[in-house]
Amino acid sequence: MSEPVTDPLVAAALQVREHAHAPFSKFKVGAAVQDESGRIFTGCNVENATYGLTVCAERVAIFKAISEGARKFSRVAVVADTTKLTPPCGACRQILWEFCGDVELVMANLHGNSETLRLGTLFPRAFDDSFL
Ligand code: THU
Repeated sequence: MSEPVTDPLVAAALQVREHAHAPFSKFKVGAAVQDESGRIFTGCNVENATYGLTVCAERVAIFKAISEGARKFSRVAVVADTTKLTPPCGACRQILWEFCGDVELVMANLHGNSETLRLGTLFPRAFDDSFL
């Protein structure tokens, strides 16, 4: 039996995962980001027949948030159906770093397992605007 999901950010990521368009990989991912006012923005992966134009759940969530005017983020959640918890891919780490910095990141699966860490742990010595 799975533990009930108590974290609303993880619940949002779980829910939006159902909308994933993943006919090629069959690998559905849900993501959710929370801004400093508590607003939650969600995203799922959207695949494309070219494969290369696929967009990950994390980037959909963050771009939706940015386009709705959100700017400062406190937490990010990523949900996939894996035993080994799914982390954001390299491209998504870069995009999350750009907009969220060393944000709290929750990785969770469908069985109620989760792990919380800081993005900087997954993405040390990031390139960002401090170099420009
Ligand atoms: N994917 C995500 O949406 N987020 C991740 O963090 C890892 C990978 C998607 C992209 C593609 O649709 C599928 O998972 C398999 O790579």
